[in-house]
Amino acid sequence: MNRDEIRFPPDFAWGASTASYQIEGAVREDGRGESIWDRFAATSGKVRNGETGEMACDHYHRYRDDVALMRDLGLRAYRFSVAWPRILPEGRGPVNSKGLDFYERLVDLLLASGIEPYVTLYHWDLPQTLEDQGGWPNRSTVDAYLEYVAAVTHRLGDRVKYWLTHNEPWVAAWLGYGWGHHAPGRTSRDDAIRAGHHLLLSHGLAVPVIRSEVTDAQVGITLNLTPTYPESDSEEDAAAALAADGFLNRWFLDPIFHGAYPDDMAEFRGQIEPLIKPGDMEAIAAPIDFLGVNNYSRNVVKAGPDGRPIHTRPEQSEYTDMDWEVFPQGLYDLLVRVHSDYGPKQIYITENGAAFPDVRTHHGAIEDPERRDYIEAHVLAVGRAIAAGVPVAGHFVWSLLDNFEWGYGYSKRFGLVYIEYPTLERVPKGSFEWYRDFIARSTAGEAAARTA
Ligand code: FCB
Repeated sequence: MNRDEIRFPPDFAWGASTASYQIEGAVREDGRGESIWDRFAATSGKVRNGETGEMACDHYHRYRDDVALMRDLGLRAYRFSVAWPRILPEGRGPVNSKGLDFYERLVDLLLASGIEPYVTLYHWDLPQTLEDQGGWPNRSTVDAYLEYVAAVTHRLGDRVKYWLTHNEPWVAAWLGYGWGHHAPGRTSRDDAIRAGHHLLLSHGLAVPVIRSEVTDAQVGITLNLTPTYPESDSEEDAAAALAADGFLNRWFLDPIFHGAYPDDMAEFRGQIEPLIKPGDMEAIAAPIDFLGVNNYSRNVVKAGPDGRPIHTRPEQSEYTDMDWEVFPQGLYDLLVRVHSDYGPKQIYITENGAAFPDVRTHHGAIEDPERRDYIEAHVLAVGRAIAAGVPVAGHFVWSLLDNFEWGYGYSKRFGLVYIEYPTLERVPKGSFEWYRDFIARSTAGEAAARTA
């Protein structure tokens, strides 16, 4: 399909995404409790250069400036997350009203600016108290999460319609509990599998809680999904690709949409079965209104000597500063596949974007044509998927602002807006100007592609 023929529905949600710990700062203000990311970042050797989210972008105090930027950009939608330790500083129990006040101010300003809020309830900042009691591998964290969800939706439910229970449970489970790259830094396969099950269970049980607090709620979950391709057409590589896909994608998709963990993942089934209590799988498969998809790249795998998948790095490709391959066709393939295998009612691309090592010229501007090209190519892939019948309702760029990129600290810049960290000055990049025009043309019903 010719790029000039790609058009988007008039009500398409053109958005940008952020997450609480990555932008807010103000970690000790207004009664906020400690999160696992505060603790992890303060532990020597965990985050590059010992950086933390203590100041981040200081969004907690500068949110008005940030919403003004969003308005200038012409955003229709903004996805942010709520920090659990601001609301229930001890994880459960007394609600800290001041924490809710902050998000209420933010939501009111967004709505007054014509920007629809999409709220992620959990983007990885678990209250440390709950981690001390066992964290996500402990089933009782599910109950604490439901208390927290009730508190947030009770207060904001009259204004916020779009709710995401979790961001990337695969990452929270494996990077946090399995491999120790993220908070809380545990390295136990057993803990990762338990955490994954409890994250899924907490998602499913939260769906009716949200619906009971919010009239006309639209409820979903965001998964990190990565299309996986075999390096060759050998049977061994095909089997390795299937295994990698099972581990990364189907382990979370299948329970949510089919109410069962994948049959072919024998290695994991032995561990998961004792954890499943009667009713769990039905709860996890609670009908949702949309699926959030975070996608940045693809995986290419081959079979190792023991048949297990090994990731390969296609030589000819372009890579971002994360060393993630630029492969927009992967997003198209992924969307078509998710639509045909799982049939979610709607899909939002809740994160998609790229880090590049931006520099300011001596006039102070930031030219980032690589980011512009990345976003444009991926958005056009989404447009092609829509034309092929996939119900994609929105696309959120990761991210509005440069921010704290977890274990990489501040070294990876994903923003449409550059942050001058020493002064916290916000400087819109070239991609910001381009995206503003792109949104304006698309919402006016014009062909979305760049003409120049
Ligand atoms: C995703 C996370 C998000 C950000 C991007 C680059 O996995 O959800 O917070 O770190 O990657």
